[in-house]
Amino acid sequence: MFLQGKTALITGSSNGIGAEAAVKFAAEGAKVLIHYRSREADAQSVLDRVRAAGGDGEIFYGDFSTSQGVHTFLDSLGDRKVDILINNAGWLVQRAPFLDFSEDLWNSVVMLNFTSVFLITQRLLPGMVERGEGYVVNISSVAARNGGGIGAIAYASSKAGLSAMTKGLAKEFAPKGIRVNGVSPGTIDTNFHKVFSTETMLNNVRNATPAGRLGDSDETADVILFLCSPAARFIHGQMIEVNGGFLMV
Ligand SMILES: NC(=O)c1ccc[n+]([C@@H]2O[C@H](COP(=O)([O-])OP(=O)(O)OC[C@H]3O[C@@H](n4cnc5c(N)ncnc54)[C@H](OP(=O)(O)O)[C@@H]3O)[C@@H](O)[C@H]2O)c1
Repeated sequence: MFLQGKTALITGSSNGIGAEAAVKFAAEGAKVLIHYRSREADAQSVLDRVRAAGGDGEIFYGDFSTSQGVHTFLDSLGDRKVDILINNAGWLVQRAPFLDFSEDLWNSVVMLNFTSVFLITQRLLPGMVERGEGYVVNISSVAARNGGGIGAIAYASSKAGLSAMTKGLAKEFAPKGIRVNGVSPGTIDTNFHKVFSTETMLNNVRNATPAGRLGDSDETADVILFLCSPAARFIHGQMIEVNGGFLMV
């Protein structure tokens, strides 16, 4: 129970990786702030699982595809203290060839996957600095390193920016008692791929992965939890690749 008395905000925790992280953080004693965009009922199920794990939490709505949406979400948190921030919300939004990619689509992908993290982290870091302790984990992607799949340049670029932001934040805030790291998932079997990948694409990934399978949310969430644990106390500014060996860096 190393998170007793701590509050963890996990964005995008209505499903997939974020949902599993919410339950794991609760099992270690954290109060969990669960964020969703479209799946309120799923967020409620996550809260039920959080309570079944012996913890407690609250649910918050937020659409991060516009700056206004992010600020409205942040305002809804009120003056709750956040000791642990898991910037996990993310979405490919739409696959489109680069030459057909509209400026509006580009801006919404970058806002959701990159700029929202700047806004949310900037709002919540001062409290951590005041308390002299805090943890931030940013969820990037293997796309940050390989440019992403077909039609995903804006998403991949946003995630690459997020990886760089993670390192910069780690440098600036380590002296203030805050550990900032990231997790870079490979292909994890979640809603994300039900929407954006075909079975052929997923089979190609399985064949190119030494572990011979896709990842799951549970084993990805384990790494997020580890980064907020005492066992990771000397880890700062790292992006941990969770991809079954698909890409070794
Ligand atoms: N799955 C993978 O293979 C993979 C690989 C690399 C990186 N990632 C990253 O891992 C993170 C979690 O993804 P996942 O695979 O667990 O997918 P997921 O199950 O679909 O979860 C995505 C989460 O992001 C939220 N979200 C989507 N659009 C949003 C928006 N406009 N504003 C605010 N929140 C929004 C979703 O909320 P609602 O469902 O409530 O709308 C959901 O909670 C993402 O950052 C993703 O980019 C995933």
